[in-house]
Amino acid sequence: MGLVGARLRDDGTPPHDRLGPIDRLRERAAARAAMGVRRQLMVRERTGDGGLLDLASNDYLGLCGDARVTAGAVAAAVEWGTGSTGSRLVTGTTSLHAELEEALASFTGAVSALVFSSGYLANIGVVTALAAALASPADPSVLIVSDERNHASLIDACRLAKAQRARVAVTPHKDVAAVRRALAERAEPAALVVSDAVFSVDGTLAPVAELHAAAREHGALLVLDEAHALGVYGPGGRGTAFAAGLAAEPDLIRTVTLSKSLASQGGAVLGAPEVIGTLIDTGRSFIFDTGLAPPSAGAALAALAALRDDPGLPGRARDAAARLAAIAADLGLDPVTPDAAVLAVTLGAPQAAVEAREICRKNGVRAGCFRPPSVPDGQACLRLTARADLTEREFTIAVRALTSVRDHVRVDVSLLLRQ
Ligand SMILES: Cc1ncc(COP(=O)(O)O)c(C=O)c1O
Repeated sequence: MGLVGARLRDDGTPPHDRLGPIDRLRERAAARAAMGVRRQLMVRERTGDGGLLDLASNDYLGLCGDARVTAGAVAAAVEWGTGSTGSRLVTGTTSLHAELEEALASFTGAVSALVFSSGYLANIGVVTALAAALASPADPSVLIVSDERNHASLIDACRLAKAQRARVAVTPHKDVAAVRRALAERAEPAALVVSDAVFSVDGTLAPVAELHAAAREHGALLVLDEAHALGVYGPGGRGTAFAAGLAAEPDLIRTVTLSKSLASQGGAVLGAPEVIGTLIDTGRSFIFDTGLAPPSAGAALAALAALRDDPGLPGRARDAAARLAAIAADLGLDPVTPDAAVLAVTLGAPQAAVEAREICRKNGVRAGCFRPPSVPDGQACLRLTARADLTEREFTIAVRALTSVRDHVRVDVSLLLRQ
């Protein structure tokens, strides 16, 4: 039997969990339910989500479903098929991928670009590959300085880099002095600073120019995740680094996703050829992953063209977010002033955030909510995202939903002290 030769505990019982693995998972799920942090898949219906107003998606420019973008995906599928057929280094690089890389670099003012199959994998790839490549045989340790509110993909990238002997210093939110201190006091010869450009939860801008100056002064590279900035922030939606005049700086590396403003799927790293070469040679999430599906590349290319054709789109998305924030503030709620298209309305307890999301739903609005561990304890929030194409009628629906949130959700003000 299986127990023959197994090591037993002192009381003679086998070492495995007596509850059984599935029962243990049920128990953990019940504990998460009690804490208000169970998550649910919300199935969208094909016919317009039952009439709900979408204030939860990342389709900031309203291009998902746009006829030009759909046509781009269809044309790519017809020409290349539905899948890329292999990893980028084997059969998964079509001329469409090359075209997309050129278009992304040219739009964002980057010297070169490399497309990944998701933004998540772009972040994992760039941080781990750079941390490994910057380590020297004499001193294999590298310091990574990471903002405490960075997106989970950057956090996971740091965790993986730790396994390669990097040291990670997590700094307070947007605290450039703390970043400088961490860089100045380090023993490691090499360092990376990693930050969201527009923070995914609170929707505010990172101190991009200051972070870059700090990194440069201390001989470090800055990795900036422009997922929520591309298409929304900066001239024509070219992002925060472009807006700061830093787009072609060799010590600034950007990651983007194709899944938000560009209404597609996939991600990319933008940077110096030396960085891109390092990723092609050593980036594990690039090398050991199937290339982006051609229809996604085709859709992203068409969305980029639509964005070039209408440089007013990003401003309309930002204005819509500012208007939603003004509505929430007028109602006495506590919105964070948005810098792009993401708006957080802080409510405190996770249960309050879930309740607010349900109230929105009952009032015809699909909203998101963030709870720990996606946000710090006590900072659960309703998360709204704006779109460039929101109509007056839709703003009226948003007012009704937020009024109901104000009237029915108990906000624990003691939890709302911002850091
Ligand atoms: C800041 C940020 N970075 C990276 C990602 C991951 O991008 P993707 O969805 O393309 O994997 C997201 C969200 O999805 C994000 O919000």
